[in-house]
Amino acid sequence: MSVAIANIGELVTWEPDQPIRHGAGLVVEDGRVAWLGPSSATPAADERIDAGGGAVVPGFVDSHTHLVFAGDRAAEFAARMAGQRYEAGGIRTTVVATREAGEAELRKLARHRLAELHAQGTTTVEIKSGYGLDVATEETLLRVASGLTAETTYLGAHVVPDGWTADAYVDLVTGEMLTRCAPLARWVDVFCETGAFDADQARTVLEAGMAAGLQPRVHANQLGHGPGVQLACELGAAAADHCTYLTDADVSALADSGVVAGLLPGVEFSTKHPYPDARRLRDAGVRIALATDCNPGTSYTSSMPFCIALAVREMGLTPEEALRAATRGGAESLRRDDVGQLGVGARADLVLLDAPSHVHLAYRPGVPLVKRVLSSGVLST
Ligand code: NIG
Ligand code: FE
Repeated sequence: MSVAIANIGELVTWEPDQPIRHGAGLVVEDGRVAWLGPSSATPAADERIDAGGGAVVPGFVDSHTHLVFAGDRAAEFAARMAGQRYEAGGIRTTVVATREAGEAELRKLARHRLAELHAQGTTTVEIKSGYGLDVATEETLLRVASGLTAETTYLGAHVVPDGWTADAYVDLVTGEMLTRCAPLARWVDVFCETGAFDADQARTVLEAGMAAGLQPRVHANQLGHGPGVQLACELGAAAADHCTYLTDADVSALADSGVVAGLLPGVEFSTKHPYPDARRLRDAGVRIALATDCNPGTSYTSSMPFCIALAVREMGLTPEEALRAATRGGAESLRRDDVGQLGVGARADLVLLDAPSHVHLAYRPGVPLVKRVLSSGVLST
């Protein structure tokens, strides 16, 4: 099965020699990009799409979400907008609702959210557990997540649940819970923050996960300065996500280690914390990814275009840098070469925009510009 797309006004591939082409065509064969060239030379294929001069960009790679949960916390959001502070303990509210929902309901809710992401151009998504905080529910959340993506993350160490001491809970997270969850996960994550897990506890969780074959990523430096980023760098984690409060030493450690800094501007939007300075990170040579962190507490957006717009307006990135962070950066955060770019051989995950260039993603915030989405070459929206 082959698909040809002709008349592409602007084609973003991120190829090293020619990252953005104009007046281009592209052919997909068996789910992969098979040909790139001038529109007028586009070969025939089983199906032909006329892009009508619109832009084509790689499908977004959302490297940080918590899509499997029940309930919402709209009241908490409204209170915050009226001046209340965000507390990590709010997670427990969602844990109660999630434990009450059955697996079928959780699957239905997560599928609905995934469809929402997809309609906005996301073609690769990471999904974490973390709203179960007991062995059976964490396992259920990962079973649901693994039905939706290959990028599943065990986040048993999200907060310490009611009725537990931190030490006893870390024993559970690194013991029976890990044994049951590891077969369903690719990654291990921990919320390293005041009110959640300190550096020693976080290290224990990550090292146990690594010993069970999982690769580490960290929720780091979200609510204040802390040890999360340094820990991620020390352990060679794929990503340190949030990075809202960074010292110069944190920035240097990220640059030296190659750990991807995951920036989640939906969180700052919804918690009123200051936006991280992406310019400072870029200028220091840190690799960055943009993600939604879609979750009911701190960022209930499923929209990568919204995050791109925020990154441009509030975090000092150019539209091109923001798009790169939302595609190639996400792929780097997930240690994937096959997505987040559209060179020949890449997975044909792409988005056709109802706009002549990627700049419109930030220039026209809140406007549904995603016209068609192809996942592995199959037209899905
Ligand atoms: O990534 N930081 C920890 N976890 C989520 C928030 C979860 C919640 O408040 O429900 C986050 O922001
Ligand atoms: Fe998160």
